[in-house]
Amino acid sequence: MKKANLVWALLLAGLTSVSVHAVQQRDYHKAVIGNDCEVCHDQGVDQYPSDKTCLQCHDVDELAKETARSGEDRWQNPHDNLHYGKDLPCVECHGEHHPKKPLCNSCHTFKYDKHQE
Ligand code: HEC
Ligand code: HEC
Ligand code: HEC
Ligand code: HEC
Repeated sequence: MKKANLVWALLLAGLTSVSVHAVQQRDYHKAVIGNDCEVCHDQGVDQYPSDKTCLQCHDVDELAKETARSGEDRWQNPHDNLHYGKDLPCVECHGEHHPKKPLCNSCHTFKYDKHQE
């Protein structure tokens, strides 16, 4: 019995490490985070990360300043916009392992040249 359990445990360990290496990561995050999935996946890799994990390193008020727009374009600021203010989850517009378009572009044609799909 014990031997069978050990074999099973080794098999599972093998499967886990395969899936860990299978995901694409952003270059800008690889440099600071490496392979440590839990830095973002605080509730396990089968759940999307919450904003809390992103906010360990990013700051919403800073972001709102960096992407600020002026005049009548003011409320197109993705980090402080007309409909949601500063309260839209990061993952609605930023992917890590897959390309992602900003949510706004499913209804508008605003230009976000700095966005890294
Ligand atoms: C351990 C710290 C850390 C965590 C956690 C983290 N980031 Fe980052 N992120 C960085 C660093 C450092 C950079 C590169 C410098 C910069 O652009 O701010 C970066 C860059 C980015 C960029 C690209 C900026 C550009 O230059 O275009 C985006 C978008 C981004 N992060 C979004 C997120 C999101 C969304 C999350 C949560 C799912 C997250 N980050 C979690 C540290 C982190
Ligand atoms: C910088 C934060 C960050 C790190 C580090 C990170 N992830 Fe993710 N992960 C995300 C985000 C954001 C999503 C939401 C969907 C997407 O971006 O592809 C996600 C979604 C997932 C999903 C859901 C399935 C899917 O692809 O849609 C899996 C599985 C996953 N991550 C595995 C991993 C593994 C394994 C690691 C470690 C090698 C890892 N993640 C590291 C941010 C991160
Ligand atoms: C589900 C569709 C939908 C999504 C997603 C959406 N909007 Fe809108 N938005 C609308 C509608 C409808 C109006 C009102 C009609 C109009 O003026 O175009 C509007 C109006 C606006 C306006 C004022 C009018 C204009 O065109 O300048 C701004 C600014 C705006 N949205 C920004 C955003 C931003 C930024 C996002 C992403 C965070 C976003 N919207 C996401 C549907 C949407
Ligand atoms: C409504 C969509 C949306 C949401 C929600 C959103 N972002 Fe962004 N983010 C963008 C877009 C679009 C850009 C590029 C802006 C441009 O081109 O002017 C950007 C740029 C960035 C940058 C680079 C800033 C720079 O100086 O170039 C970082 C870092 C970032 N976002 C992190 C985050 C984090 C962390 C969250 C959650 C707290 C978040 N974003 C929420 C759409 C969004």
